[in-house]
Amino acid sequence: MKAGFYQFNPSFGKKEENIKKVISAAKHADFELLVLPEFFATGYQFASADEVAELSESVPDGDTTEALLELSDKRGIYIVAGLPEKEGGRYYNSAVFTGPDGLIGVYRKTHLFFEETLYFTPGDTGFKVWDTKIGRIGIMICFDWFFPESMRSLALSGAEVIAHPSNLVLPFCPDAMPVRCLENMVYAVTANRIGTEDRKKEQSLTFIGKSEVVSPKGEILVRAPEDEEALIVTDIDPASARDKALNSCNNIFKDRRPEMYRPSGICS
Ligand code: ACM
Repeated sequence: MKAGFYQFNPSFGKKEENIKKVISAAKHADFELLVLPEFFATGYQFASADEVAELSESVPDGDTTEALLELSDKRGIYIVAGLPEKEGGRYYNSAVFTGPDGLIGVYRKTHLFFEETLYFTPGDTGFKVWDTKIGRIGIMICFDWFFPESMRSLALSGAEVIAHPSNLVLPFCPDAMPVRCLENMVYAVTANRIGTEDRKKEQSLTFIGKSEVVSPKGEILVRAPEDEEALIVTDIDPASARDKALNSCNNIFKDRRPEMYRPSGICS
């Protein structure tokens, strides 16, 4: 299966322009799964609740999801992409999953980062995995990676590939993902963005690029530069993530002992 990401520098608020950019970049690549950054069509740094209300969309009938559905249909591909979702008077940092047959699902970010907490409601979907023709795909969004429980929940639910739309500003994630993938024996496709947004006084955010695809053995199969646009695709074998045997004696899931994983207090 050919899986990849598109790392680019979305212009804040210019949804149509950003969506066109994705469609045009995708024209030149051959893949079955494309992962796009968190908030790929709107940009990241919302400066007010009004902006969030103006740029958020309902799913599946918002313009962004409709454009992704059309791209999935035309190209016969699967796409995971981040967008601000509006539902019932609440706003979520969400990712939609589209395929050739329509909308497959939506994930709402569980662990909100920094000032996302001012404007968005923590996600209520939980970590979801979908069984598709290209493999079992789970989704988490950006800062979710910091919590090992995110990928563990997805892997225990059967995910073979973790799609990870991101807008990373801290430096840690690209080097941490190989460990997350190894400890769960899954693939991950992290789609980050590049560029800087300084829409709020004295609060400039620079995104670190380095989007990557990591294997169940913790190998970085491909990694983008930190400051260049890149659409990179690589071959992966999702079914290989089903076998959790490390050797003839150890299976990393069967060997888990959840009953031992409790804070026990400090011995005196
Ligand atoms: C992040 O969660 N956007 C860092």
